[in-house]
This record gives sequence, C-alpha cells and structure tokens, in this order.
Amino acid sequence: MNGKTKPPNYTVSSGTSNTRLYVSMFLSIVYDHLINPGHWTEDMRDHALQPADLDDRNMLVVDVGGGTGFTTLGIVKHVDANNVTILDQSPHQLAKAKQKEPLKDCEIVEGDAENLPFRTDYADRYVSAGSIEYWPDPQRGIKEAYRVLKLGGKACLIGPVHPTFWLSRFFADVWMLFPKEEEYIEWFEKAGFKDVQLKRIGPKWYRGVRRHGLIMGCSVTGIKPASGDSPLELGPKEEDVEKPVNPFVFLLRFALGASAATWFVLVPIYMWLKDQVVPKGQPI
Ligand SMILES: C[S@@+](CC[C@H](N)C(=O)[O-])C[C@H]1O[C@@H](n2cnc3c(N)ncnc32)[C@H](O)[C@@H]1O
Repeated sequence: MNGKTKPPNYTVSSGTSNTRLYVSMFLSIVYDHLINPGHWTEDMRDHALQPADLDDRNMLVVDVGGGTGFTTLGIVKHVDANNVTILDQSPHQLAKAKQKEPLKDCEIVEGDAENLPFRTDYADRYVSAGSIEYWPDPQRGIKEAYRVLKLGGKACLIGPVHPTFWLSRFFADVWMLFPKEEEYIEWFEKAGFKDVQLKRIGPKWYRGVRRHGLIMGCSVTGIKPASGDSPLELGPKEEDVEKPVNPFVFLLRFALGASAATWFVLVPIYMWLKDQVVPKGQPI
C-alpha cells in the first residue's frame, strides 16, 4: 500500500471557467451549514463510504472534488490523514478543508477531476462525493478515476440521482446533472471497471423515497482489473473557455438556477415534516 509519491503542485487549468469559480466561492460558504444538513448527513456519508472498503490505515486515497472536506472527514476515520489527498478546483473550498483539524496532515491539491495530476496506477482508493454533477464530461472524470488507481484499487463515486416526479425533474434538469442509476453503471463499465455495484443512499427521513431525486442518492463502486490507463478512448478534452453570454440568457439561467436550488433546499424540509406526521411504517 505504501510508496506514496506526492502529487505535483498543480494550479487551476487556464480553461477553468471563472463563472464556476465564483459559484464555488459562494457555495463554499453555504455547503457545510445549509446544503449538507438536508442532503448529506454524517450517517449517510458513513453508509456511502462503506463499499469503498477503507480497511487499511496505510492505503493511499484521493478525494476528488473534496471541497470543504466533509467526506474526507469520513475517510480519515479509517485511513491515516497523511495518506489522503484532497483535490478540488476551488481554492475557496480547499481553504475551508485546510482549517479542519483532522485534515491538517492531508495533502491539498488544486486540480481538475477530468485531468487529474496523479500518475497512472497511483492510488489504492479513489473517492468522489457530490462533485460529478458539476463535471462537464462525467465519462472523462470516471476514466481518470480508473487511470489513477492501482491494479485492484477501488473507485467509490457518490452522487445525485434523477427524479421521477415532474416538478422535481424539471428543476433538476434546469439546474445541474442528476444522472440516472443506469448511466453511472454504464460510465463505470465503459471506463473498464469490473464488479460495478450501486448502493442506494438517502436521508433517513425520506424512508427510501426517490421520486424527488436526491442530491446524494447513490454510491457507485468498481474495481480496476488491470494496471495502466483505461481501455476507453476519448478525444481531446474540449477547451472550457468563457464565451460571451447574452445578459438576458444569463438572467434567465440565474433565475431558473436559483429557483431550482431553492426547490432542492425545500424538498428535504417537506420530506422531514411528512416523516414527522405520517405514522411510522407507512409510506410517505
Ligand atoms: C458539493 S461539493 C462536495 C464537496 C465534498 N466532496 C463533500 O462531500 O462535501 C462539490 C465540489 O466539487 C468541486 N468540483 C466541481 N467540479 C470539479 C472539477 N471538474 N474538478 C475538481 N473539483 C470540482 C467543487 O469545487 C466543489 O468543491
């Protein structure tokens, strides 16, 4: 498991969009206190990390899109912090992670999930929680997960699931990527992973309800069966450059995005109230 080589210092690629950086700066302020309590609790995190088999304190783990380090706090319960690297494209998110005492020995790296600054066959475990919905090309990110893992290493990707209820589906579709369960499996298999498994997760008070989708709805794992790069061939990554945006389109997108975000802050509160009112054992 040992043989850690430090990843090179890495700065945000010139293609990284400023808009996304501003959004993540704003989100770094609200994640831990507003978003996570309704969608991503400590119980859920521990449940979602179980299939990652973090069973050796010496294993090398990369937490991609690690943000403010909420998921990393779950990882360092099982793995020595100095074997864990937190990677994120946002320096504002990483600054919050750095302030957390249990994470002070973690390596902190700025970088892009779709172009990881780690050598091939580097890590024993790849973890990414609640980040895929922001990646422009999820298949490319999962191919990178495969590349950086050692032979027999395991990827554990935790992410949203698509709603079936019409209004939640509308807001999900205008907001960000809420993949379907079968899409996760397909991305993992195409990247070359074997033994791909999907575990459903969700807040306790939802009683298993999935019609509104979930911002954290599943934990998908796969094992790397051969060393080296992924067998999947993808063309070069598209340049992510800022194009001039029509101000009306920008305002419309902003209003729709803000309504969708509000909807997904309110849904867990609504479900929590329902859970309080509807007798236990009955569906909600
Ligand atoms: C919702 S936060 C999740 C943070 C953390 N994993 C957790 O469980 O609380 C999503 C994170 O993904 C990061 N992110 C989004 N796209 C990324 C990319 N292409 N490369 C690296 N990080 C990315 C964002 O900056 C943000 O910190």
